[in-house]
Amino acid sequence: MAKINDNFLKLPGSYLFSTIAKKVAAYTAANPDKEIIKMGIGDVTKPLAPAVIEAMHKAVDEMGTADGFRGYGPEQGYDFLRDKIVEKDYRARGIDIKSDEIFVSDGAKSDCGNIGDIFSKDNKVAVCDPVYPVYVDTNAMAGRAGEFVGEHWTNLYYMSCTEENGFMPELPTEKVDMIYLCFPNNPTGVSATREQLKPWVEYAKKNGAVILYDSAYEAFITNPDVPHSIYEIEGAKEVAIEFRSFSKTAGFTGTRCAYTVVPHELKIDGTELNSLWNRRQCTKFNGVPYVIQKAAEAVYSDEGHKQTREAIEYYLENAKIIRESLTEAGLTVFGGENAPYIWAKTPDGMKSWDFFDKLLEEAGVVTTPGAGFGPSGEGYIRLTAFSTKENTIKAMEKIKAIL
Ligand code: MLT
Repeated sequence: MAKINDNFLKLPGSYLFSTIAKKVAAYTAANPDKEIIKMGIGDVTKPLAPAVIEAMHKAVDEMGTADGFRGYGPEQGYDFLRDKIVEKDYRARGIDIKSDEIFVSDGAKSDCGNIGDIFSKDNKVAVCDPVYPVYVDTNAMAGRAGEFVGEHWTNLYYMSCTEENGFMPELPTEKVDMIYLCFPNNPTGVSATREQLKPWVEYAKKNGAVILYDSAYEAFITNPDVPHSIYEIEGAKEVAIEFRSFSKTAGFTGTRCAYTVVPHELKIDGTELNSLWNRRQCTKFNGVPYVIQKAAEAVYSDEGHKQTREAIEYYLENAKIIRESLTEAGLTVFGGENAPYIWAKTPDGMKSWDFFDKLLEEAGVVTTPGAGFGPSGEGYIRLTAFSTKENTIKAMEKIKAIL
């Protein structure tokens, strides 16, 4: 008889954003006339940049010609895109990354989950609490998290991020093997400076650990002390894998394009993780469509860069509006300065899900309850700056009116 991977049965509830979508759908069905403003899942609202659309159209036309048609592309991504990434995202910042260290993919979410394939089941994994649920759930699926007891997985090492420590994880006090870090952070919206990241690279070197660095929100960094890449820290290429995405940088949430960097220097017992990831991708992945990679390439053109930057500035302005309005409403807020997420403390110690319900039912605003990101997220909600400016202002007025 076939057996299932019973690690799936250990997962509590459904994926956070599916649960929220179901709750919102039920509310909308029961209240069809009520306007809902979505500030829950971090999904963009601005259309793709004209330069991106133009490149995509051109690529579509090419695919319809005998000369321009492409079948399977390289699993690692086309050189035209990998070379642009090397030049614009790394060399321009003084970082030496080679194009064969870049693996173009369909999303940072999938890569953050799939990366576990190249690591032993016996590794001890450290995650922040609160945390982007993908890191936890995918390790649970792989059997690396142990059992879910109370609010925690028995084999995970939780790094509590609270108001007291400025939502910055502290170095593990025991030996861990894999460390997920995300800066600018999802969900708290805080960012780490170069000085704050250095000890992590030192820890990883000393303990033979690998840092899985999710830098999907780097485009929102405004503070010059905040690094855009972990590789800005000396020695990081020996200990870190970096995940990047066009989703939030260029509005590709529905278009799907991202990349993962696995430097050749990163080795475990003499084995390059680059070759393992390459093997994994070649076996399980057939590359991102040519048309999409052409669209992603256009993000790096002068026009594309200018247009996508305008969208980022627009979202950062929304983040400012949210921060200021919630503060006026009497809430304590964090994040939102180098990130599209605002982390707000619930009033009067209210539970996250209760405050989520209140905001949905009384203000028609969808947020994400902090508790959904882990036990230390209890007592907080997360709002995204990815709505339209009009809806952001409207949502803030509604929230102010009920608080
Ligand atoms: C989020 O809202 O946390 C993100 O949009 C989810 C994702 O990028 O997968």
